Amino acid sequence: MAAKISTKSALIVFLAVLSISQCCYGKLEFGSYKETCPNVENIVFKVVKEGFIKDPSVAPAMIRLYFHDCFSNGCDASLLLDGTSSEKKATPNLSVRGYELLDDIKTALENDCHGVVSCADIIALATRDLVTLASGEKTRYEIPTGRLDGRESTALSVDLPSPQLSVSQTAAMFAKRKLSVDDMVLLLGGHTIGVAHCSFIKDRLYNFKNTNKPDPSMDPKLVQELRGKCPEKSSTDGIINLDQDFSSSNIVDVSFYKQINSSRGILQIDQELANDGMTKKMVTDLAKGNDFLARFGQAMVNLGSVGVKDEQNGEIRRSCRSCNNLFCTK
Ligand code: HEM
Ligand SMILES: *[C@@H]1O[C@H](CO)[C@@H](O)[C@H](O)[C@H]1NC(C)=O
Ligand SMILES: *[C@@H]1O[C@H](CO)[C@@H](O)[C@H](O)[C@H]1NC(C)=O
Repeated sequence: MAAKISTKSALIVFLAVLSISQCCYGKLEFGSYKETCPNVENIVFKVVKEGFIKDPSVAPAMIRLYFHDCFSNGCDASLLLDGTSSEKKATPNLSVRGYELLDDIKTALENDCHGVVSCADIIALATRDLVTLASGEKTRYEIPTGRLDGRESTALSVDLPSPQLSVSQTAAMFAKRKLSVDDMVLLLGGHTIGVAHCSFIKDRLYNFKNTNKPDPSMDPKLVQELRGKCPEKSSTDGIINLDQDFSSSNIVDVSFYKQINSSRGILQIDQELANDGMTKKMVTDLAKGNDFLARFGQAMVNLGSVGVKDEQNGEIRRSCRSCNNLFCTK
């Protein structure tokens, strides 16, 4: 009897959790600002395009920022609360440009429709536009809006995957956010653009899993090339392209899959995608097909529904750098 009750109540809890999680996905809709800020997408695109022309590396920076924001505590712009604005301005690193572009977009939108568009939606729209621009305008996905900005910024990096995790460990982290293995394989295609610091791959070049040898899954020619760019003993942390096809390192395209299919992946997790039984077939399919761009767009939309906030725990921030309430956690 007791066992029966607990199975029943477990089922009820399960269904309750299911309905809660479904409630918030449903909040996003296409064109949610069509009454309140009809020009939002044109305004965002205009400011983004100016930023991209000035500095195309804002594309990989923003794509990564979108991933980190959505993965840590949901797509709620909580990442933008981190630190003070002066620190961000003073730090000359790659992500900084992302923050400044977001401020420019927020300012332009506040002029046109004050207090209407959330910073979380600005990130999602700007990222979509940068994917379009960095693909040479070969692709454009529609992305639903209606996200609210979070009121707290939790310890950020804690819940982000490390490049040394296995495919199944990484898949488990995606599953926790209701993202499938296919989503994971497609989203890691984000590594078709941008750069990584040598420190993330030194183990693969010199001492893989304490063997004193390079990672056997990396093309030996690539090992040689990368050793030149990332010397074992160096006082500075160099940077290398994530897409080693130099003709498309800065272009969002399918070449990432061709690279990993030829043992030329940069991060350990990138290469594992091509070698692990769970993901191998999808990688070879993507490497030869040309539907990557459309599928990547759909996966980016899926990523954009993770942990969306509602009126209870979210708001439309006046400034993307701080929440409206004095007492919000920072
Ligand atoms: C298992 C998941 C992932 C891991 C372990 C991972 C890891 C990394 C690492 C270590 C870097 C280099 C950072 C640096 O040296 O500063 C990087 C860069 C990057 N990642 Fe990922 N990443 C993952 C998933 C994703 C996803 C899902 C996306 C986007 C959809 C993404 C987009 C990027 C981009 C665009 C860059 C280049 C940033 C730039 O050039 O400024 N990553 N990633
Ligand atoms: C990059 O900027 C962030 C945000 O301001 C900062 O926390 C981080 O320390 C900076 N990283 C480097 C390598 O300067
Ligand atoms: C992927 O790798 C396999 C095995 O090395 C090879 O036969 C195939 O041609 C590669 N596909 C592409 C599109 O590069």
